[in-house]
Amino acid sequence: MEKEIITYNAQETKKLGAKLGAKMKKGGIVCLSGDLGMGKTTFAQGFLEELKLTGPYTSPTFLIIKEYDFKRRNEKVYHIDAYRVKEEDILTLGWEEILNDPKNIIIIEWAERIKKIIPAKAIWINFQWLDKNRRKIIIN
Ligand SMILES: Nc1ncnc2c1ncn2[C@@H]1O[C@H](COP(=O)(O)OP(=O)(O)OP(=O)(O)O)[C@@H](O)[C@H]1O
Ligand SMILES: [Mg+2]
Repeated sequence: MEKEIITYNAQETKKLGAKLGAKMKKGGIVCLSGDLGMGKTTFAQGFLEELKLTGPYTSPTFLIIKEYDFKRRNEKVYHIDAYRVKEEDILTLGWEEILNDPKNIIIIEWAERIKKIIPAKAIWINFQWLDKNRRKIIIN
């Protein structure tokens, strides 16, 4: 079901991310799409903060994938930025392993760039510019 939300400042977008973070279940995948400066990272920050993770610590291989631990649970959250990469790069960084662990939660910025390797169950969120402080956020 498609849902459309307009946020009037960055804080509102962050709160929206937190709201989704609070509802997130193990195995969930959130795909953020939209141009530069649309609010994807702002949204992801709210999302990650809400999940109460330890870290952040950087993935040993590249900064493309950041791995976070939950404080009290045996689960992990992966925050991926696909801006500079191709599907093959993500596959090389252990994508299948991350995906196949049902305990993992994944949030991806620029997910449209690696669309081919995203499972159908993913939630897609598109960020659009309305004006300097307003964004249209479409959740699918
Ligand atoms: N309603 C809004 N929602 C989110 N960000 C907003 C909003 N209004 C203004 N902004 C500003 O827009 C910028 C969004 O930056 P952010 O890093 O979240 O975008 P991004 O989509 O991750 O960009 P990039 O693709 O370059 O990483 C911030 O400077 C933020 O303060
Ligand atoms: Mg970003």
